[in-house]
Amino acid sequence: MKETIILGIETSCDETSAAIVKNGRYLLSNVIASQTEIHQKYGGVVPEIASRKHMEFIMIICQEALDKARLTLHDIDGIAVVPGPGLKGSLLVGLSFAKAVAFALEKPLIGVNHIEGHVYANFLDKELPETPFLSLVVSGGHTSLLLIREIGKLEVIGQTRDDAAGEIFDKIAKYLGFNYPGGPIIEELAKKGRNDAIYFPRPLLNSDDFDFSFSGLKTAVIYFMMEEKAKDNPVNVSNVCASFQKAIIDILVYKTFKATRMFKVKTVVIGGGVAANESLRKEFLKEAQKKKITIYYPPKKLCTDNAAMIACAGFYKLERGIIDSYNLEVFTK
Ligand code: KG4
Ligand code: ZN
Repeated sequence: MKETIILGIETSCDETSAAIVKNGRYLLSNVIASQTEIHQKYGGVVPEIASRKHMEFIMIICQEALDKARLTLHDIDGIAVVPGPGLKGSLLVGLSFAKAVAFALEKPLIGVNHIEGHVYANFLDKELPETPFLSLVVSGGHTSLLLIREIGKLEVIGQTRDDAAGEIFDKIAKYLGFNYPGGPIIEELAKKGRNDAIYFPRPLLNSDDFDFSFSGLKTAVIYFMMEEKAKDNPVNVSNVCASFQKAIIDILVYKTFKATRMFKVKTVVIGGGVAANESLRKEFLKEAQKKKITIYYPPKKLCTDNAAMIACAGFYKLERGIIDSYNLEVFTK
């Protein structure tokens, strides 16, 4: 069988990543230069700094990915890259670099939507599930419920109307005085708290659509903290984290499984940074077992942004002849 080697490139936010994947299934290398520490002192990603760092890292990271896979650029059959959504300046660095490499090598350029990439983080060591399947992508930039009827295509059936799930974790963590990214910190604190200690609202839970809204939940947590402070009550931060985390997970679980009934699908694929959350994984698994649904979630290290998932998605697109021209442009949303 002919081997197909894809170089994946991901620069949509604050991670510069390059990966080499063989036949969509075998991860030969996945190199990530994280800028987390650089942005931490600002409490979030600073776009201008992010794009400058991508420019510094992109060549080095791609070379490292090739070296680790013991390959050279001439072994590559296609270059998969993210044109969006993401930060414009950051995306431009990865896309311009990928275009130049594809042009010089006369190899196909494959644009992979970043959200779609998160779905494929699940399939690096397994067969693709049968279509149709549903996917929930929950990250710092996105909360999207997707219906995949055909590999290489996706329909957005619901998304957040305001903040993304990960963004809410980050904002609450910042309010509580913790570092960025807030998700892992809140998860750790939540382990020591009771998730039924405080009732926080679950906005849009019973809406007719599959959209999400988290800004009201954020406001409720902030008001709770302010009121307790005004009353001079000591606040158990672990209880706040556990109760807030439970509210987010309840919304995500409820809406996702409502969609499985509506679209009559038997498989749910989870992805994105927030999918690394243990409580979220447990709750999805519990509900899936009850409803006899097969659930996929990626290895933790592939939940957050990486180029392996982009290369994997790129392979399946190339296999189906879905490639892009050099006119491919970046898009932010
Ligand atoms: O997918 P990702 O790396 O970037 C985007 O595409 O946005 O996701 C990063 C987000 C951050 O908001 C971070 O707080 C969140 O994922 N996150 C978590 C956990 N680990 C990362 N949220 C909750 N629990 C976690 N364990
Ligand atoms: Zn992402």
